[in-house]
Amino acid sequence: MIVAIDGPAASGKGTLARRIAAHYGLPHLDTGLLYRAVAVKLIHRTMLDDAEAGAEEARRLDPAGLNDPELRSEAAGAGASVVSAYPQVRQALVEFQRRFAATPPGAVLDGRDIGTVICPDAEVKLYVTASAEERARRRALELRARGETVDEAEILADIRARDARDMGRTSAPLKPAEDAVHLDTTELDADAAFAAAIAIVERRTKAA
Ligand code: CDP
Ligand code: CDP
Repeated sequence: MIVAIDGPAASGKGTLARRIAAHYGLPHLDTGLLYRAVAVKLIHRTMLDDAEAGAEEARRLDPAGLNDPELRSEAAGAGASVVSAYPQVRQALVEFQRRFAATPPGAVLDGRDIGTVICPDAEVKLYVTASAEERARRRALELRARGETVDEAEILADIRARDARDMGRTSAPLKPAEDAVHLDTTELDADAAFAAAIAIVERRTKAA
């Protein structure tokens, strides 16, 4: 079984993907980490604007490095949203993601283009959303929990800018697959979102 989960920043797709994977005993790939890893390499080389260098980094990406805490930083996330617009970088990462998904017994992948480009034949596709205000509130909570001082207006502006970039790019823009089930988590906590997602997965796999 392949479960494809897409959605904008802080919609809760990563949390959902992890929990669904644990529930079904499937491996999970947070595909945002791949773009973050490429971005961090380019930031270190001060070459964030170089698409070819990005593709080169993407081709020699070591999956063992995906646990690096530096990939979780806001700078890595913002950089990821820049390099992810380079078609060469996206192309260089397709193979790895498809192989991960196709390896038995299947997988849960979350990102922006899993249901549309990476796994168009996934048994289950979820498109997870929440209002920009609620997503900014979640991000602010996370940052505060890490002891950082936060400016909520700035976080909201960042989220909106990231949405616009991710949805507006020509190469694999963020958009729901035609056969994706939409899950709006604005009014749901993580437990309620998980319960709703499991109900969708069960319905989809029974229908198949
Ligand atoms: O956790 P958050 O949603 O903030 O970020 P992420 O999922 O780690 O993704 C960081 C950036 O990578 C996004 O803003 C996208 O531009 C890009 N990305 C992508 O283009 N395609 C994917 N499958 C995953 C991430
Ligand atoms: O992966 P993505 O950027 O879409 O979001 P996330 O990192 O999974 O979730 C962002 C934050 O929202 C986490 O701190 C979650 O605990 C929280 N949250 C959630 O995931 N789901 C909800 N329905 C409500 C809150």
